[in-house]
Amino acid sequence: MPFSVVDHALLRHKLTQLRRRETESATFRRLLGEVGALLTMAALADLPERQIPIETPLAAMQAPVLAQPEPCLVAILRAGLGLLEGAMSILPEAPVGHVGLVRDETTLTASRYMLRLPPELPARGALLLDPMLATGGSAVQAVRALREAGARDIRFACVVAGPEGVARMQREWPEVPIFAAALDERLNEHGFILPGLGDAGDRCFGTE
Ligand code: PRP
Repeated sequence: MPFSVVDHALLRHKLTQLRRRETESATFRRLLGEVGALLTMAALADLPERQIPIETPLAAMQAPVLAQPEPCLVAILRAGLGLLEGAMSILPEAPVGHVGLVRDETTLTASRYMLRLPPELPARGALLLDPMLATGGSAVQAVRALREAGARDIRFACVVAGPEGVARMQREWPEVPIFAAALDERLNEHGFILPGLGDAGDRCFGTE
């Protein structure tokens, strides 16, 4: 399934600000929200539509609306919360789910500490949000949780992807399209994306 780097000058500009070492937590959070809105727009650009009759103040016309209810938004904690804020500004009525995952710093294996998903998931599909796709362990587990809850149409949006994570997602969940603001070079020995933007969760919440 396709991996796309979203082509948008504003997205690239904001990502550069996110990457900079000197960008402080409050600015980082705001930028992550803005990037979340831009990624959501791109990831959902081809949602099915249908035509309905409406009247403008001047004339009757056929106009497009979404054919199905808005997809659910699902944030991978913690850093996905930053993207979620922007995604919710685009889809204010979407039900929201949370998957809590944390990576062991040595093994780099993600373990789940929380799962709350909306019951509408099977009917609506989901946009899964996490700024970082590094080894892919977190994303792969999160997709599994959504599948087990009955979601069929799942899309994944991230800010920075590493080649390892993209390959792993494409191997394990080939039907899930990935939308990223950038594809970076590689992972370092600690499983961080290079050049990347550091630890998104810590930078977002000031915990480093
Ligand atoms: C980071 C990041 C992703 C995950 C990516 O989260 O926000 O969720 O690692 O790595 P992976 O692709 O190798 O699984 P972390 O575990 O640091 O938790 P946090 O968001 O709470 O800081």
